[in-house]
Amino acid sequence: MRIINGFLAYAVFLGAAAPAMAAYVPDFDRGIDVKMAIQAALESAASAGGLLPEPPRPETAGRVWISIEKGDVAALDGALFKRLPVAENKRVQVYDFEEDKLVELADGMNRAFARAPGFFAHSSLEAALEDLKAPQPLPVRAFTLDQAEKVKALAALPLEQPIAATIKGLAAFKNRGYRYATGIDASKWLQREWAKLAEGRPFVSVEPFKHAAFPQESVVLTVTGASEPESVVVIGGHIDSVAGYGDNPAPGADDNASGAAVVQEVARALLEGGYRPAKTIKFVGFAAEEAGLRGSGEIAAAFKKAGTSVEGMLNLDMVNYRGSEKEIYFVSDNTSPDQNAFLGRLIDAYLGYSWGTLKCGYGCSDHASWNKNGYHASYAFESTFEQHNPYIHKATDTLDKCGGSAEHALKFARLGVAYAVELAK
Ligand code: BES
Ligand code: ZN
Repeated sequence: MRIINGFLAYAVFLGAAAPAMAAYVPDFDRGIDVKMAIQAALESAASAGGLLPEPPRPETAGRVWISIEKGDVAALDGALFKRLPVAENKRVQVYDFEEDKLVELADGMNRAFARAPGFFAHSSLEAALEDLKAPQPLPVRAFTLDQAEKVKALAALPLEQPIAATIKGLAAFKNRGYRYATGIDASKWLQREWAKLAEGRPFVSVEPFKHAAFPQESVVLTVTGASEPESVVVIGGHIDSVAGYGDNPAPGADDNASGAAVVQEVARALLEGGYRPAKTIKFVGFAAEEAGLRGSGEIAAAFKKAGTSVEGMLNLDMVNYRGSEKEIYFVSDNTSPDQNAFLGRLIDAYLGYSWGTLKCGYGCSDHASWNKNGYHASYAFESTFEQHNPYIHKATDTLDKCGGSAEHALKFARLGVAYAVELAK
């Protein structure tokens, strides 16, 4: 956009500088084929890495519906909410919203609140209205812990180097925004990486989860359970990144190449360690988290609609920056208290890390989509809320800010292995 404007400004400048002649015939473009020149400028900018061709916009692009806490709307810039809500209850409002403004909304919320706020973006009004319903109570379930031998063997595998390599691979895409060509490419790249893990293993498959309203695909690796395949454990983290409103460089090394890399390396550890679960495990890279949890929102709703029995969901989002005294923190809101306690027990029994809790204050990441749909979900995080990685959502969210290694993320991978083995047994 900037480049188009720049070019037009240049064209106007040329026009203004045209010398006045006796029989002046205005020639605003001075014989330049403007269309072709713009096309050429776009192409040369794209090849120089300065501007990316817009990915094809699907029919429904441009319009979304968001659900958001009433109190949060009141505290935000009114310019974002020009229209009245289309529906509301005491706590939540639903707005018809411009899709282009989603990232601005997320950014505005980050500035306006000391906590991470959040909102849910939906591709249909019907889906948004679901958020006005009372939250579903979680089913009562017991979490047991009795797989010490397997957990210890698998968690001891060398995971740190591969995690660091995958973080670098994801962070190398200029921007993993859910509507940008490089964001689409990053998803495709991950699909190819995950497909390698499925090779020669007939019980493992990799599929994209396509989203009708935006082009970035979520990625799903399924390890089909040997004896109870209809019960599913979900381990996931978002693959998109953001920095400001445009396609600025957004390496998102911590937010969230780190979590996505851990998801992948937990899968690798289990598979290369020769493990086959009784229940099915789905490893998921969620698209479009930064635009209002859109990928996970659609996937969790699809699971609920299909009546899928989910044993539990573990969200990994920002796991490689050691900002606080303790090593692993669990988000206590919009999560399952029972499963959170179980994760703490797993750490105490098998890993010996120190752990604590934090509050996001709202649905700050993809666990919230699963929690909302009535599933036990947890969110393991790198630090306290106040001490999280200060470089996120900027061009400076690079691996060197996390010490250049995956030392901290490794702990979350070991926790992921323990969680998978104890839940999918
Ligand atoms: N990884 C962050 C969430 C986060 C940031 C948790 C800092 C704890 C501390 C996530 O990718 C994100 O940016 N979430 C948005 C909300 C979302 C609904 C757009 C946020 O927190 O603003
Ligand atoms: Zn983020």
